Parts: sequence; C-alpha cells; structure tokens
Amino acid sequence: MIVKLTPNITDIRKPAAAAKNGGADAVSLINTINSITSVNLDTFSPEPMIDGKGSHGGYCGPAVKPIALSMVSEIARAEETRGMPISGIGGVTTWRDAAEFMALGAGNVQVCTAAMTYGFKVVQEMTTGLSRWMDEKGLKRIDEIVGRAVPNVTDWQYLNLNYVTKARIDQDKCIQCGRCYAACEDTSH
Ligand SMILES: Cc1cc2nc3c(=O)[nH]c(=O)nc-3n(C[C@H](O)[C@H](O)[C@H](O)COP(=O)(O)O)c2cc1C
Repeated sequence: MIVKLTPNITDIRKPAAAAKNGGADAVSLINTINSITSVNLDTFSPEPMIDGKGSHGGYCGPAVKPIALSMVSEIARAEETRGMPISGIGGVTTWRDAAEFMALGAGNVQVCTAAMTYGFKVVQEMTTGLSRWMDEKGLKRIDEIVGRAVPNVTDWQYLNLNYVTKARIDQDKCIQCGRCYAACEDTSH
C-alpha cells in the first residue's frame, strides 16, 4: 500500500512518518499544489472562471519539480522515515528528471502532466535515456542511483560558507541585456 502525500503542508516529514507508523509500504509524492494562476481584471474572478467564480487548481508539471525534489529528499534523509520506499512525482518529463528524483531517494517515479502534454511516448524516451546514461556511467542497477545524492543534502547552516562560487561571464556570448548588472547593483546577489 502506497500512501500519496499532499505538498499542501508545512513539514512533509510528518505525514510521511504517520504513513510509515500506520503500516504503509511506501509513500508517493507530490500531489498537486493549491494554486490560482490568474485573476481576470475585468470580472475580478479567478481564472478559469465558472459562472463568475473560480477555485484553486492543482499546480503541477515542471514548475513543481524543485518543490517535489526537496520534499522527496526530506523524507529520504529524515531519521524517522529513512529507508522507506518513495515513489517520486512532480514534473517528471525527461530521463534526467527521473534520475534526479532517484538520486534523492525515489525508487521509482510517476508521470502525469508530461504524459498528458506529450503522450505516453515520453515514458519510452525516459527509459531509453536512463538506460543510455547508466551504460555511459557504468551503472548496472537502479539501486546504484537511488539515494546517491542524499548524503550531499544538508541544512544550509552546515554549508561551508568559506567556499567561493562565482559566476563567470563569457564576454563573447554576452548579449548586453544588463540583467547581471541590475541583480548585482540593486539586490547585491
Ligand atoms: C488533471 C489532473 C488530475 C489529477 N487527478 C488526481 C487524482 O485524481 N488523484 C491523485 O492522487 N492525483 C491526481 N493528480 C495529481 C497527479 O497524480 C500528480 O501527483 C501531480 O500532477 C504531479 O505530477 P506531474 O507534475 O507529473 O503532473 C492529478 C493531476 C492532474 C494534472
């Protein structure tokens, strides 16, 4: 039995632990994120509008992948849920997405939006791509990938703050848009 978790919660580790303690074999995540994508400024109704009213919809697809990856990793590294099988969901579109979910602890992945957008052929492309990448890397089994990035996930206060990482601008490719200047000058990022 796989318990599917909603991301509409502050701490995803809590429902995951509850699922485990309740006897679930695994958890799958994430479901969709409550969202309102736009408001019609003539009718003042959320869109899409149904008879003058709107409701929240479910945010999904590539936009939610970062949130899903983070939540999967939280469950994978939490003491209470470590080792619990995880099925990763949220924006999986390419084999790379699948590999990233697996590296953060998912034993398999599920696909919804990408299959709706591109058809079931995306799954074939994912298995082919994943297989090719594994061959290139000399990886024989999926469990050589699953959870491999988990030890490298930490809380920000444990990051080495003396480690310097700087953007390097290739002047030949620069299109002079000025965004790097604005970001640095106005917000000091
Ligand atoms: C149109 C639509 C209908 C969905 N219906 C359900 C549902 O009935 N039950 C459920 O658990 N998740 C449902 N989901 C959520 C998906 O299973 C999935 O968790 C979510 O969309 C994130 O994955 P994705 O980015 O691959 O779409 C639905 C998603 C979409 C887009």
